[in-house]
This record gives sequence, C-alpha cells and structure tokens, in this order.
Amino acid sequence: MQNHSNLLDIGVIGLGVMGKNLALNIADNEYKVAAFDLDNHKIDGLLKQEESERLTGKSQRIEGCSNLSEMLSRLSKPRILVLSVPAGAPVDGVCGALLAAGIESDDIVIDTGNSLWTDTVAREAQYAGQFVFFSCAVSGGEMGARFGPSLMPSGDRKAWDRIKPIWEAIAAKVDPTTGLPIERQAPGHSVKEGEPCTTYIGPAGAGHYVKMVHNGIEYADMQLICEAYQLLSDGCGMTAAEISEVFERWNRGSLNSYLMEISADVLSQADPITGKPLVEMILDKAGQKGTGLWTAVSSLQIGCPAPTIAEAVYARAVSTQKSQRKQLSQLLAGPSVAALTDAERCEFIDQLESALYCAKVACYAQGFQLMAMTAVENKWQLDFAEIAKIWRAGCIIRATFLQSITKAYQEARANGDELVNLLMAESFSSALSSKQLDWRQAVAKAILSGVPVPCIGSALAYYDSYRSETLPANLLQGQRDFFGAHTFERVDAPAGEKYHLNWSHSVRTIEKL
Ligand code: 6PG
Repeated sequence: MQNHSNLLDIGVIGLGVMGKNLALNIADNEYKVAAFDLDNHKIDGLLKQEESERLTGKSQRIEGCSNLSEMLSRLSKPRILVLSVPAGAPVDGVCGALLAAGIESDDIVIDTGNSLWTDTVAREAQYAGQFVFFSCAVSGGEMGARFGPSLMPSGDRKAWDRIKPIWEAIAAKVDPTTGLPIERQAPGHSVKEGEPCTTYIGPAGAGHYVKMVHNGIEYADMQLICEAYQLLSDGCGMTAAEISEVFERWNRGSLNSYLMEISADVLSQADPITGKPLVEMILDKAGQKGTGLWTAVSSLQIGCPAPTIAEAVYARAVSTQKSQRKQLSQLLAGPSVAALTDAERCEFIDQLESALYCAKVACYAQGFQLMAMTAVENKWQLDFAEIAKIWRAGCIIRATFLQSITKAYQEARANGDELVNLLMAESFSSALSSKQLDWRQAVAKAILSGVPVPCIGSALAYYDSYRSETLPANLLQGQRDFFGAHTFERVDAPAGEKYHLNWSHSVRTIEKL
C-alpha cells in the first residue's frame, strides 16, 4: 500500500548499476524512493533518468538525499532501507553510518549485495536491537534489477511481511500456466499479473546461501556452454557464426535458457574494430568475484559432491594462466585429429546437445543437493519447489528447465517423498537414461580430440558415481587402515562397527575395535 503523505516509502543507498535500477523499478511500481550515494553525480544521473522516463501525467517518485540523516528524515517510519553496496566492509560501513545518523530499532536495512552468507548471519546478530538487519539476494544483473529480478529474501519474518508487497511488485513475473517469464515492460510501466519471482527463503543467511548456490550453478552452466563452443570450434572446425546458429537452435529445445540465448548473441557479434567475430578478439582470461568459489568451498566443507561447480571455478582459474598455457601449448603433445565429414559433424552436434542437457541436470542436482545438506545443518526449512520457481524468470540461470525442477519437487511432495537428489526424479532419470550414450560419445570425442571438458566430463563422472552401488572406497579404506590404522567397516557387519587388520605382523589378524 503506497503512502499518501509527503514522506517517502523506501530508501536506496548505493546507486551503482544495481542500486540505480532497483530504485527505478521500485518507482515504476508507484512507491516513493529516497536515493543516496556518496557520489553526487550518481544521484543526479538517477534523477535525470527518472525524469526522462517518466510517463506523462505521473509525478516524480524519486528524491535525492545529500546525506543519510536527510534520508532518514524523509522516510516514513518504521523505515525500509535498501543497501546496494559491494559485499564486505562497505556493508558494515553503511550500517555504522546509519547508526550514527539515528536509525531506530524497528527500522529495516536490507542488504541486496552478494554478501557471504555467514557474514549475513553475523550481521543480523550484531545489529539486533539497533535496527533489523535483513538480507535479500538479487539476481538478474542490470536489466533484472530494472524490469524484474529474482529476489531471495531472508531474515526476520515480521520484516518480510512489511517488505513483501514491494518485493512482489518489483520482482520478475512468471505465467503460472506455461512457467514462462511475462515479457518485461518498458520504463514507467509495471507488470501486475503472474507469479512473482520472490519468496521468503528462511532465517538470516539462507537467502544469501541460496543465491550463492545459484551463482555456483551459473558458473557451471556458463562453463558447460563454453565447453560446447570449444568442442564445436576446435573439435569440429566450425565458425563462431555457425556455432551461434547451433546455439540458437538448441535454445528452441530443452536447452532453452537465457544463458544459451545470450551465448548465441555473443557468438554472432562482429568486432566493431576489426570486423572479425568479437568472441575471437576477447582475451580468454575469465574474471570472477568469488561466489562460485564460495559454493565450491561450501560443498567441500559440508561433504556434498559438487564437482561440476568446482570444475567451473577451476576452469576460470586455468583460463587466467595464459602465459603458462601459451608456453605449454608448444611443449605438450596432443592428438592429431582427422577432420569430420558433414554427416559426422551433424551426428556429433546432436550428441553434444544431449550431453549438455545431461550435464546440466547433473549440475543442478549438485546445487540442490548442496542446499539440502546445508539446510539440514542449519535447521532451515528450504522449499526447493519454491526456489526453482523463483529462478524461472528474472535471474541469470532462468530457463524452461527450472519449470521441470519445480514440477519434480512438487510431484515428490504430492507423493509424500523427499527428493534427496534430482537424479531420482523420474522425469530426469528417464531422460538421462535415454541420452547417456550420446553424453559418453561427446565426452569420448572431446578426450580423443584433446579438447578440455572439465564440466561436461565431471558431470558424467558424478552421474556414473551415483549409479554405482559399489565404489573403490573399499580399497581406499584398506589403504588408510594399512598406513594409519584408520580402521574400516565390513560389508557383513553392522554399520558403525570398526575393524583393523594388523598389516605389519607376520601373521595378519583382524580385530574388532
Ligand atoms: C546475478 C549474477 C550476478 C553476477 C555475479 C557473478 O545473479 O545477477 O549472479 O550476481 O553475475 O556477480 O559474477 P562473477 O562472474 O564476476 O563472479
């Protein structure tokens, strides 16, 4: 409910790309916004943009503030303040400044950055009693923030009740019958119908954790597409434009996703300077801001296999070692590969499409399993159908595939089952069974051609590990017991019973501990 006083509804602090666009989105939805940034030019830029985009007959909805005290005085109480500043020290910096400016105990501060989830947990406790520290991870980049992001809020429930109407208004919307995003509006407009891509995730930290895993999946999904690109270019000798067409075709099938769509676009772009495909002029060194790494570290810490996500982080790391790669490309031998016939190439493209789909399922299975294990550890009640639902639009990994994940969790719940691993959902297990041979062919072709496919390959190893009732960890336990008396369990004894063999004795005997 918008207020009709001359006080404003919500403050946005930090007017970088995300903060500016969130402010405009909130204003499009008829809330009155107080905006602040340390850089006055950013405030002016926002006000000018709002003015130029404002529809005829609509009044100004964003007001610039020259400091935080002014912002606090302009907001209706209890206040809602959105922080859009870089993760880490800047968040505490602004919180400290808000305390100095007179923020009150029932005011809500929402951290919308990519903060480390454990920092969020600590901050909620640290600021308790001084103000309500709430968090909401935001996905969707610049356009998402402007026209409808996916929002992952967590923290104090009562604070969520106050924020919810604004969040539901500004979030991306999905058509509930098709599961497809409702087309984004032009500036000045808002979308009222559809299911909003936001839901209360859980207690403090849960939203940032879920967003962190979203980003881990994002890293893996991007790397999977990049591996397909390298296979088609280096392995099949195709041009960027030809690969773009393949990606466009895949994007019309089960691989439909925002990341596939933009990859096709990137590949079709010519470099305005040389006229060559732009992708060939972009240096092959990937950047990263850390959320994929955090996901991989979290998976290792909790003991949840997420090899495809971890490999995506390593792939970015190896990409940065350009000079070593340059040197070793002259030193290390690879296979010599015969050119493919047209028919072989067509067959391979189809196999690769299946491989990409299967690897994608495995990668999402890893991400969801990781969230599930962390939820148990932290006593969070995560609703995975809802999480998949709010990723169907607005966010970077949005894809029709998310609708299938939503359904898998909903069906399991309807049957009274808990979907421990997405690979157990019938819709996915049957698709993987029918496509797995193509997946193997694609990985085999990559290996024989000397094209690295760390993510497509590790996803296949993940699949094969989970379909193996027996793994060689029996030998591993034998090794550990041999050199370190670390003991082992027996297949013919109750779980938890420990045994040790006296390996160094001339007569080797077994003892039960
Ligand atoms: C999003 C993105 C966004 C961004 C990350 C990852 O959901 O909007 O995940 O958060 O892309 O910052 O960036 P890096 O690739 O630089 O780590």
